[in-house]
Amino acid sequence: MSAPWPRRPRLVAGNWKMNRTAADGAALARELTALSAAGLPCAVALCPPFTALESVGAVLRGGATHLGAQNLHPESKGAFTGEVSGPMLAALGCRFVIVGHSERRHGMGEDDATVARKARAALRDGLTPIVCVGETLAEREADKTTEVLVRQVWAVYEGLGADSRRTVVAYEPVWAIGTGRVATPDQARDAHRVIRATLDRVVGDHAGEAIAILYGGSVTDKNAVALFAENEVDGALVGGASLEAASFWRICAAAR
Ligand code: 13P
Repeated sequence: MSAPWPRRPRLVAGNWKMNRTAADGAALARELTALSAAGLPCAVALCPPFTALESVGAVLRGGATHLGAQNLHPESKGAFTGEVSGPMLAALGCRFVIVGHSERRHGMGEDDATVARKARAALRDGLTPIVCVGETLAEREADKTTEVLVRQVWAVYEGLGADSRRTVVAYEPVWAIGTGRVATPDQARDAHRVIRATLDRVVGDHAGEAIAILYGGSVTDKNAVALFAENEVDGALVGGASLEAASFWRICAAAR
């Protein structure tokens, strides 16, 4: 069982999505390791595709940068062709696993109940889930952002109790992902406040104050400083800009 994640750490995680082979991923991790030789400015995690976890993990081993996966199956083993379980990820040295990414909610039909099962499975298997939530453009334009965030957070955290403190949330507005249209720091702040207030209500015990909330969606080394200046933003989940070592490193440095 991994130790509780420290109270609201600054965390920058790179979600490589379906990019980089095992060899290319190891090379990218080596570039980052070279850049971070003098120490990390914040907690950092790399989330390569399943096929690169072992090679990237080998580069990161013994260092401070964490390894994370992008998905897991809720069951720990069994007849689930093509799936990967939490114990398999933990055995590769993963500390984190992303659950509920919008590309899985909207592209692979994952509903709130599935995301909740995956978050619980991650905790059961000693992993820290990075729970992604966020509204679509249509939902934002229909003034449904708060409703969607409350529903998505509630589904995962209801009944989670003290385990909630071993999770991280990522607010990823769907309209900002891969579009170059980053949320303004004010938009991120408002959404993070909704998420924090919901965590307080559903978990109790001021959980919202203890759980880190990352922002994700078109984060670059150009806009990271302004986003991180917002007190509500505890870090970032970075897609495209995490595929290039220097730009990802500048984002990490901005989170110091
Ligand atoms: P981009 O940074 O490419 O917009 O992707 C964000 C994301 O989906 C991270 O999980």
